Amino acid sequence: MRNLAILLLLTACADTNDDTLTTEYSDVSSFEAAAMILRDKCGPCHTTGHAGGLTFSESNDMLYDRLVGVQSFSMNCEGEMLVEAGNPENSILYSKLTEPTCGSIMPPRKDGLPLLTDFDKNVIKYWIETGARPQ
Ligand code: HEC
Repeated sequence: MRNLAILLLLTACADTNDDTLTTEYSDVSSFEAAAMILRDKCGPCHTTGHAGGLTFSESNDMLYDRLVGVQSFSMNCEGEMLVEAGNPENSILYSKLTEPTCGSIMPPRKDGLPLLTDFDKNVIKYWIETGARPQ
């Protein structure tokens, strides 16, 4: 039900506000939507060779292949799934936004960066929950 509310909210935004971030994707369960959030809000640290070996700055195709069905190889999270399609709770890409099962919450609190909004978190959760589709 909450997911439906998000969808409706997004549609409402898209109707009135042509230049907001939300208008760039029409489907909140899409990978485009999740990837946009990751690049905008997590990209500064997650560039090539940094932060747990995870890079968000590459093309959507490459990012998708790096995340979905792939296990972490980092010191903190080795063996945990980055994204398990259909299962956000078992995906550290999501659990690290809420209750990390390894390492720190993202973005790390000590850096003073704003955490994701509930909307952002739900976009990522919903994308994973609905099967982590490639588009
Ligand atoms: C201030 C820099 C910084 C920002 C911003 C940041 N991260 Fe991180 N991230 C790190 C560091 C450092 C690590 C490795 C330590 C750890 O896992 O706690 C990491 C690790 C991770 C990992 C685990 C990767 C692995 O294989 O172990 C995930 C998933 C992750 N970050 C997701 C995110 C997401 C999603 C965001 C945006 C909400 C984000 N990060 C924002 C610094 C950052």
